[in-house]
Amino acid sequence: MEKERDVAEAYDAWAPVYDSDANATRDLDAAVVRGLGLDATGDVLELGCGTGKNTEWLAARARSVLALDFSPGMLERARARVATDRVRFARHDIREPLPVADAAFDLVLGNLVLEHVERLEPVFAEAARGLRPGGILLFCELHPFRQLEGSHARFVKPETGEVVRVTAFPHDVSDYLGAGIAANLRLVGAHDWRDTKDLATVPRLFSTLWKR
Ligand SMILES: C[S@@+](CC[C@H](N)C(=O)[O-])C[C@H]1O[C@@H](n2cnc3c(N)ncnc32)[C@H](O)[C@@H]1O
Repeated sequence: MEKERDVAEAYDAWAPVYDSDANATRDLDAAVVRGLGLDATGDVLELGCGTGKNTEWLAARARSVLALDFSPGMLERARARVATDRVRFARHDIREPLPVADAAFDLVLGNLVLEHVERLEPVFAEAARGLRPGGILLFCELHPFRQLEGSHARFVKPETGEVVRVTAFPHDVSDYLGAGIAANLRLVGAHDWRDTKDLATVPRLFSTLWKR
C-alpha cells in the first residue's frame, strides 16, 4: 500500500526538524496533555509517540510506558530523548492489532496521530481491548473544523526546501464519537482547544476522554 509508506517515510524525513520547527499544534497538544489532570501513574500505552514529546512527560510519572510508532526516524529521536527502563519503544503500525495483552493498561493515549488513519473504529477497539476496567483513553487530534479549513500535517524538507504534505484523512466529530461508542467505551470528556479564548475562532484541537 503506497499510503502506508508515504506516512512513515514522511515522518522519517520530518524527524530531524520535528522538534525544532515552529509548530503551534504540537505545542498546544503538549499543553493539553499536561493540563488535563490525567492520572498517568500506572501502566501507559502511547499510540504514535513521535519524537517523545508526551512520552517524556509520561515517563516521569508512569509505572511503565509502552510507546508505539511506525516511523523509525521518529522513534530514534524518542529513544534518545527518553532513556529510562520504565519506557519501552516499539515499531508498530497502529492500524494493525496492537502487540499488547488484554486489559494491560491504566491509560492509553494518542496525540495528533489519527489524522493519518482512515478508519478509526479498529484503533478505538484495540485501544479499548488494552485498557483495564476503569482505564482511561485519551485522543487529542487536529480539530475536524480545522481539517475542513485545509489544515494538514506538513513540513519543509530542510535539504531541498520542498513542502511535504503527509497523507491525511478528514474526520468528523461524529467519527470520533461513533468509534468510541462502538468500542463500548463511556465518554467522560470532550474539549475543543483554541489558541485564544475567542470563541469566534476555529479550534485547533479536539480531544475525547473515554473510560472503559
Ligand atoms: C504529528 S506526529 C505526533 C507525535 C506525538 N504523538 C506528538 O504528539 O508529538 C504523528 C506521529 O504518528 C505516527 N503515525 C502515523 N500513523 C501511524 C500508524 N498508522 N501507526 C503508528 N504510528 C503512526 C507518525 O509516525 C508520527 O510519529
